[in-house]
Amino acid sequence: MSSKTSPTLNLRHRPRRLRRTDGLRRMVQESHLTVNDLIYPVFVREGSNLKEKIESMPGCDRYSLDLLLPEVAAAAELGIPAIALFPLIPYDQKDNAGTESYNPRGLVPRAIRAIKQAVPNMVIITDVALDPYSTEGHDGIVQDGQILNDETVAVLVKQALCQAEAGANLVAPSDMMDGRVGAIRAALDAEGWINVGILAYSAKYASAYYGPFRDALSSAPKFGDKKTYQMDPANGKEALKEVALDIAEGADIVMVKPAIAYMDIIYQIRQQTHMPIAAYNVSGEYAMIKAAAQRGWIDEKKIVLETLTGLKRAGADLILTYFAKDVAHWLKG
Ligand code: PBG
Repeated sequence: MSSKTSPTLNLRHRPRRLRRTDGLRRMVQESHLTVNDLIYPVFVREGSNLKEKIESMPGCDRYSLDLLLPEVAAAAELGIPAIALFPLIPYDQKDNAGTESYNPRGLVPRAIRAIKQAVPNMVIITDVALDPYSTEGHDGIVQDGQILNDETVAVLVKQALCQAEAGANLVAPSDMMDGRVGAIRAALDAEGWINVGILAYSAKYASAYYGPFRDALSSAPKFGDKKTYQMDPANGKEALKEVALDIAEGADIVMVKPAIAYMDIIYQIRQQTHMPIAAYNVSGEYAMIKAAAQRGWIDEKKIVLETLTGLKRAGADLILTYFAKDVAHWLKG
């Protein structure tokens, strides 16, 4: 219903005209969050019939493979196109060089094969990094307190090939070693895996927001921090450099992590590239919203939809989020 009033202000433009009704608002909405944007990170462990709560990530669980399959099927049923797979590795399989990371009969290759069989259309993204496999809890081989770069990349290449062999669609190096994207691309191509893509954690910051995830995988560093490989949260131009390098080395998708505190980085990368950009709405971001929602301090559904729409507005095409199933559900109406 249009209403007539006598204006006291003489305004040519009244932006509120386009906000008056739901129909008008929908017509001028600029950013759209859809289920196709979502990537659901899941935690897998050894054993059977296990579904363990993760204390600092309420609503997220570590699944044994048999129970992970119905969880992945449920995500597919909701229309979620992709999962990102993270393993909890038994301590006795860990070592400094992350040898278990390229065991063809290891947990991740077994999980990939089982998921591909049970839910063939689900896109499987696998993390390429040593930390879940490292006795030191670092993403690289440790020598005299230093994280070795080139020696680590050699292991990451083996890990990526092992995941490709098992059926991963996208391998996702998350370690921030120099040159790993190029090395992985070259090795995949040399072995004939030309259709396996690389989702590069290009701008990954040394962030306190990963705390709950490290609880989930018992993968916290034993000494020091990750500042010699992950980026300084104070830096933006360096993110553009990292993205440019990863694109030059053959990345198919570039990622920013964490997401919310780094929306300006997403925006700047958007101005610089036409490559798909992913944002990782990480465990600490998830935990903060969950904790406040549990206390009744915020409206979880509205806050999550607003936050993820904000990431789309900033320029992200894809969002890794532990809220993926809830969001898919909410978007269905
Ligand atoms: C490991 C890895 C981490 C996350 C994804 N892959 C942790 C880290 O770098 O210490 C964090 C994910 C999250 O916090 O949700 N390379």
